[in-house]
Amino acid sequence: MCIKGKVRFSSPSNIAIVKYWGKEPGDQIPMNPSLSMTLDHCRSFTTIDYVIKKGYEPHIEVVFEGKRSIDIEAKLQRWFTKISYFFSWLNYASLKVESHNNFPHSAGIASSASGMSTMAMCLSAIDAHLNNGQMPGLDVQSNISRLGSGSASRSVMGPWVLWGKTDLVDGACNEHAVVVPDVHSYFHNLKDTIIVVDKEPKRISSRDGHTFMELHPWRKGRIEQAHQNLELLINAMKKGDWSLFQKVTENEALSLHALMLASEGGILLWKGNTVDWMHYIRDQRKRTSLPLTFTLDAGANLHLLYPAEVKDQVMDIIESSPVPRLEILHDQTGKGPLMLLDEYDHC
Ligand code: DP6
Repeated sequence: MCIKGKVRFSSPSNIAIVKYWGKEPGDQIPMNPSLSMTLDHCRSFTTIDYVIKKGYEPHIEVVFEGKRSIDIEAKLQRWFTKISYFFSWLNYASLKVESHNNFPHSAGIASSASGMSTMAMCLSAIDAHLNNGQMPGLDVQSNISRLGSGSASRSVMGPWVLWGKTDLVDGACNEHAVVVPDVHSYFHNLKDTIIVVDKEPKRISSRDGHTFMELHPWRKGRIEQAHQNLELLINAMKKGDWSLFQKVTENEALSLHALMLASEGGILLWKGNTVDWMHYIRDQRKRTSLPLTFTLDAGANLHLLYPAEVKDQVMDIIESSPVPRLEILHDQTGKGPLMLLDEYDHC
């Protein structure tokens, strides 16, 4: 058996409303369930040139954003050992990977979610050629992505995605994400405008961030809070209740940073402008009564969320803000990965 080919996918990042922060012992088991919106524009693009031949020594070469990356090669090799349970052919695969993101590093957008999910999609397409054209199911694609990066499990589908065990949604589990059912049309098309206030955001590495939760004094309370917020959020999204959605969104964003502040070493990622923007958005919301809220990743930059219908008013608010910003990025609710190329042949 020998096949060779070239496959290319793009896969989006996502923004969590209920945050995944902390792991259980085991392989990428989240401490609590999380729920995110899949993005549309901010994407990773990955191409894999491959030869799969029994007896081959496995080989991988990675070029990331134009440069060979030994670090990513090592990371992918560790990931391959975990996922060879699904794709045993990785033990005799020769892979040349080229990957890049279409969003700047400075944006404070999680690139591991888009990057690892785009890798998982490429490998799934290769697997299909070894499996009578049968692509692994969405649950397997999400599971494989999760083993690379937890939040990547939520990027292989859209628009609203839940990952982690809860009784609130059928099929929800720690191994893979599921699409949130029964979402009111009010939430079908939200905009996410990212206000970049820091070009070199000290995004805490997820590995460090999650380990801080192991002995965190608020661990138990945080798990309870995340479950409660998830229930509120799912109800808000079912009913089309913006004010409840907004309440949970900001509570989760601020709680994520409160958890970091209360971690050993006191991790403070906000800049002065982050705080000023939060005040500004709340003041403007009070003044205009617009459905407008914010969330934050593990960084200093704000994600402003609002329904597409109020885009012009929100852009006026952003443009007339006295609070400085360095850049604005525009994104919105998205559906997930896209296959861009899939050529193969027997060799
Ligand atoms: C703050 O998914 O990047 O963005 O599983 O270790 O790769 P690893 O962590 P990662 O953590 C994401 C943390 C977060 C919240 C979220 O996306 O839910």
